[in-house]
Amino acid sequence: MKSVHFLLAYVLLALASSLAYANDPIALQDYCVAINNTEIGIFVNGRFCKDPTLATPDDFTFSGLNISTDTNNFLGTNSTLLTVDNFPGLNTLGIAIARVDYAPGGVNPPHVHPRGTELLLVQKGTLYAGFVDSNNTLFSKILYPGDVFVIPLAMNHFQVNIGKTDGLAFASFNSQNPGVITLANSIFGTNPPIDPYALARAFKLDVNVLKELQAKF
Ligand SMILES: *[C@@H]1O[C@H](CO)[C@@H](O)[C@H](O)[C@H]1NC(C)=O
Ligand SMILES: *[C@@H]1O[C@H](CO)[C@@H](O)[C@H](O)[C@H]1NC(C)=O
Ligand SMILES: *[C@@H]1O[C@H](CO)[C@@H](O)[C@H](O)[C@H]1NC(C)=O
Ligand SMILES: *[C@@H]1O[C@H](CO)[C@@H](O)[C@H](O)[C@H]1NC(C)=O
Repeated sequence: MKSVHFLLAYVLLALASSLAYANDPIALQDYCVAINNTEIGIFVNGRFCKDPTLATPDDFTFSGLNISTDTNNFLGTNSTLLTVDNFPGLNTLGIAIARVDYAPGGVNPPHVHPRGTELLLVQKGTLYAGFVDSNNTLFSKILYPGDVFVIPLAMNHFQVNIGKTDGLAFASFNSQNPGVITLANSIFGTNPPIDPYALARAFKLDVNVLKELQAKF
């Protein structure tokens, strides 16, 4: 009798734990419109896989993150993001990495990664870094080489190189495709443009100021 109770408890526990995982997985791309014709269907949640017996060491290697990138642009920063798109070996592994170069004064502008928590490791420079939570509280720190800063999933965040020398940081993500939404572009630089009257109300600005902002993007 005792063992029957034990078995029943075990079955209920197993059922409960399977129910706990019965939610949809987080999508690995921005959208995935369903189609019936598989011949023109290319994206699934993740990617099609290579036959594992044909995998080589090169599939799991990417070279080039040792090379600094050109920061001679308006923001004074440049990011190289390795995702499943340019590093196919990451498929299904739930990780990605980026190199970020900063000129003195360079700004990595406010952006979110809709599918990835980020861990930022500073290698060179002095970075003022922050993220804003869903209660609009800013968590910011001045970071030095060796410092690590973590940015929870989908939080608005930024960095500024406040040092007098070039900066360098590496970021890792718990997604093979964390995605990047740069806030200024996703508000002022959309295609087609968001109605400037709507934005003027949202930002408490004159509609002509909004049109100017939209023209800059
Ligand atoms: C796809 O197939 C289903 C089932 O055969 C059908 O009900 C549906 O209308 C189809 N959708 C499209 C967009 O053709
Ligand atoms: C970067 O690493 C590659 C080897 O993967 C090497 O050939 C290259 O010289 C290195 N470049 C710099 C700038 O260190
Ligand atoms: C980033 O650096 C790469 C390599 O140096 C360069 O080709 C690219 O144009 C740079 N991007 C920007 C936005 O400056
Ligand atoms: C949200 O922010 C307000 C003020 O900025 C603060 O008083 C409140 O405690 C915060 N709530 C949470 C849950 O963090």
